Amino acid sequence: MIRFSALPELSLYIHLPWCVRKCPYCDFNSHEQQAELPERAYVEALVRDLEASLPLIWGRPVISIFIGGGTPSLFSPEMIGLLISEVRARLMLLPDVEITMEANPGTFEVDRFRGFREAGVNRLSVGVQSFDVNKLKVLGRIHDADQARAALVHAVQIFDRVNADLMFGLPGQTLTELERELSELVQLGLSHVSCYQLTMEPNTRFGIRPPQGLPDDDVLADMQSLVIHRLRQAGLSRYEISAFSRAGQECRHNLNYWTFGDYLGIGAGAHGKISFADRILRTEKLRNPKAYMEGGNDAHGEPISIESLPFEFMLNALRLTAGVPASRWSQTTGMSVGEHPFLLERLGQAQARGLMRADAGRFQATDRGLELLNDLQALFLP
Ligand SMILES: C[S@@+](CC[C@H](N)C(=O)[O-])C[C@H]1O[C@@H](n2cnc3c(N)ncnc32)[C@H](O)[C@@H]1O
Ligand code: SF4
Repeated sequence: MIRFSALPELSLYIHLPWCVRKCPYCDFNSHEQQAELPERAYVEALVRDLEASLPLIWGRPVISIFIGGGTPSLFSPEMIGLLISEVRARLMLLPDVEITMEANPGTFEVDRFRGFREAGVNRLSVGVQSFDVNKLKVLGRIHDADQARAALVHAVQIFDRVNADLMFGLPGQTLTELERELSELVQLGLSHVSCYQLTMEPNTRFGIRPPQGLPDDDVLADMQSLVIHRLRQAGLSRYEISAFSRAGQECRHNLNYWTFGDYLGIGAGAHGKISFADRILRTEKLRNPKAYMEGGNDAHGEPISIESLPFEFMLNALRLTAGVPASRWSQTTGMSVGEHPFLLERLGQAQARGLMRADAGRFQATDRGLELLNDLQALFLP
C-alpha cells in the first residue's frame, strides 16, 4: 500500500512544441512552424493549464523549471519573461530555483541569449549536435558548424551554467572525427555536456529509412568509451548514462527525474508525475498544439499501479552511475522495499547476474549493468 509521510521534491516541465524544421531523427513532440508563432496565445494556454493543475500541487515548493521543446528559443525573450513571471505568480519557487531553457544555435537565437537571461533563465542548454558541417547536413540541422561554435562561446559569456547536447554514432562517423568533436567541445568551458548515441526512433524519417554508413556495435562501444574518457580528462564526469558535468553542476531538473521525484508537466504533450498521500499519478496533456490551445486538457491523470512501480523507479534510478540510496525507494513510492516481494526477487536476480551491486544500502548498476542497461531495466518489468 502506498502511504507517504512526506512527498518528494517537485519540478515543473514546460513544453514549447515548434521548430523551424523537423529533424529526421527526432521523435519529440515538435511541429514545423507553418506561420507566425502564436506565442501569446500559447503562453495564455500554458497559464490556463497551470491554473487547472494547481490543485494537484497546492503549497508545494518547486525546485526546478525546464523549458523544453521543440525549440523554445523561437519564442521571444519578452514571451519567455512573461511565461516565467506568470509561473512565479502562481507557484512557490525556491530562492535558488534552477530555470533551464533549450536553445538552438541559429544566429537569430543567439542574439536573444541575453534577453533570455534577463527573463530569468539561469541555465541554457544548446543543441549543438556536431561541429562537422557534413554531419550537421545529414542530421538535417539548419545551423552550420561556425554557428554552433559561436552559440556556445556567446552562451558561456552570458550564463554561468551552459549545457551542450552532442550526438555520436552519426552516419559515416569515425573515432578520429568524434575525437575532434570532443576536443572542440572541451575547449569551450562548459559546465555540462549531454552526449547521446544517435538512435533510430520508429515514426521518424531515419526510423523508416535509416541513413547509410551507421557505425557498427564495436565502433559504437569504442565511441562510448572515448566520450567518457575524453570528457573526464576535461573535468566533466559521467553521472548519468548520457550526462557529464563538473562537480556540483549536475542538472537538478533531470536529477529529479532520475531519482523518481515529482514533476508537473504543462504544454502540448507534456507528461507529469505527481504523488499524493496514497497514490502516484501520471498526467499527459494533448499533443497537438492547436488542440492543446483550444483546451479540453484532462488534469486528473492515471494512477501508477503498484506492480509497475519497480520498473518505473529503476528505469530512472539505474541510469545514474552512482545509483540512488535504497531509502529513495520508500521516499518516492511510499512503500518499504520489504513490502514489494517482486522488487526483492528482481533485485536478487540483477545482483546474481552481476548487473547490480550487492549493496543493501544502494540501488546501483555495475559497469556491466550500465553497458546492458536495457536488459537490466527490463528485469523489473511487471
Ligand atoms: C528535445 S531535443 C532538442 C533540443 C533542441 N530542439 C535541439 O534540437 O537542439 C533534446 C536532445 O535530444 C537529442 N536527441 C533527439 N533525438 C535523438 C535521437 N534520435 N538520438 C539521439 N539523440 C537524440 C538531441 O541531442 C537533442 O538536442
Ligand atoms: S530542432 Fe530539436 S526538437 Fe526540433 S525537430 Fe530538431 S531535434 Fe527535434
